[in-house]
Amino acid sequence: MTISPSLGLKDITAARAAGVSKVYGEGETRVVALDRVSVDFRQGEFTAIMGPSGSGKSTLMHCVAGLDSFSEGSVRIGDVELGTLKDKQLTQLRRDRIGFIFQAFNLLPTLNAIENITLPMDIAGRKPDEAWLRRVVETVGLAEGRG
Ligand SMILES: Nc1ncnc2c1ncn2[C@@H]1O[C@H](COP(=O)(O)OP(=O)(O)OP(=O)(O)O)[C@@H](O)[C@H]1O
Ligand SMILES: [Mg+2]
Repeated sequence: MTISPSLGLKDITAARAAGVSKVYGEGETRVVALDRVSVDFRQGEFTAIMGPSGSGKSTLMHCVAGLDSFSEGSVRIGDVELGTLKDKQLTQLRRDRIGFIFQAFNLLPTLNAIENITLPMDIAGRKPDEAWLRRVVETVGLAEGRG
């Protein structure tokens, strides 16, 4: 997969991949899913990653979001270099700074809508700000739901 060269604007870069490669398997089953990909994701913008099936879109997302390891290169979220983090620090970074919307929602069926929204904060032992929670629920159109 190829992506345009980064703009290199440090202060507005939310996340950055630099020369990231990801190799699955070895020998005959070896697959180079990412081959030295460099890309900046800028703050306050929507970025779409497009490409044919198997071109490495999901792999790139997983590597840049700290969900998967990579074979080569570096990934930065804000000022934090993911390669320098231990497992626990990576977990905390994902919990506090990254939101995922998966194609398959990955909601917990035993929890209601509010409980699913606040789950990461519950795990972190923090209380959500009421105004923020209301805004989130209204923004995604869940205010009229049955919870
Ligand atoms: N866990 C894995 N083990 C081995 N190979 C994998 C694994 N995950 C992905 N691959 C391979 O890596 C390459 C990139 O896969 P990836 O899922 O990132 O593509 P994609 O662009 O997201 O495709 P799609 O549009 O179908 O979602 C493919 O060749 C795929 O077969
Ligand atoms: Mg995919």
